[in-house]
Amino acid sequence: MRSKRLNLDAYETDKIRLGYLDVYDAITAPWIDKEIKLLEVGVYQGGSLKLWRDYFPRGTIVGIDRKLPQHFQRGERIQVFAGSQADKEFLSKVANETAPDGFDIIIDDASHIGELTRRSFWHLFDHHLKPGGLYAIEDWGTGYLDDFSDGKRFDPKASILGCVRSMLPRRFSRRIKLPVPCDSYGMVGFIKELVDEQGAASIAMGQKASWRRSKFKNLLITPGVVFVTKAAPDISAFPNPVPAGDGLGKTTISWSTASISAGKVCVSVDNRQESLFGGSRQGSAAANWIRAGSTYEFRLYDSDHTRLLAKVVVRRATE
Ligand SMILES: C[S@@+](CC[C@H](N)C(=O)[O-])C[C@H]1O[C@@H](n2cnc3c(N)ncnc32)[C@H](O)[C@@H]1O
Repeated sequence: MRSKRLNLDAYETDKIRLGYLDVYDAITAPWIDKEIKLLEVGVYQGGSLKLWRDYFPRGTIVGIDRKLPQHFQRGERIQVFAGSQADKEFLSKVANETAPDGFDIIIDDASHIGELTRRSFWHLFDHHLKPGGLYAIEDWGTGYLDDFSDGKRFDPKASILGCVRSMLPRRFSRRIKLPVPCDSYGMVGFIKELVDEQGAASIAMGQKASWRRSKFKNLLITPGVVFVTKAAPDISAFPNPVPAGDGLGKTTISWSTASISAGKVCVSVDNRQESLFGGSRQGSAAANWIRAGSTYEFRLYDSDHTRLLAKVVVRRATE
């Protein structure tokens, strides 16, 4: 529990009072001692930037706010920039200057307005978050507050009726008048959009549309903070090892570059020169020529074959 090793009285940030650090502690453990790049959108007086600087002792902390605090001391692994979270050009300029290989962690604690949060999320997530990186959206529950600029008080009647109607046979359900659906816009609507992205593969199957993986490895919705982990490039074989038997064995190789760019899959048999096996952003193909005693290394590269993204070694079981 990293935060328990810090003197939390030294930092002025509501993350402490709201108990968010207990959740961050559980999720950020793999990054603690690494040379990470962290971006926080929403600086206020800079208390959380100082907290993250000490929380990640080898990290570089970058803060963005449309209005920076007047006397904030930069340096010591903290950089700050003035601009809006809605300005994609500004976001890219800061990212290219401070984290050209992408951020490891991005935290949005800025406007808490659905449309602005959405705009910066998709831009930063797609272009400036590393594969396997973490994106946290704080205070998403503001979307349920009727005194928040794009909030709306939760209306349980509308939700329950909607749910009941969907369970009834059509001849009954048509007789029930459904009030305007609640909480499907603003911040809460945006969070529900993230649920749909997590379900992208199932949605495609349901619609018999061309299949695609979710851009998310996982999505965790906690009472105060939503965490999205970006999918990373992946290649796998099933079954592996390939069962023993007569003749040649068969496995299916599946891969995804987890990005918008294409990939290339090559195979090297017994460490010899590789040959092309497949090429696309994601896909799967059968390898029905697996021999006992040989080692097959399937390698997923970026499209120009300069970067190895992932690999899997396939063998045949001996009995
Ligand atoms: C909740 S405070 C940030 C608190 C800080 N992260 C902490 O924990 O101490 C929200 C900040 O977001 C900034 N903000 C609001 N709308 C913004 C926008 N559209 N772009 C950038 N920053 C914005 C505000 O100026 C304010 O300083």
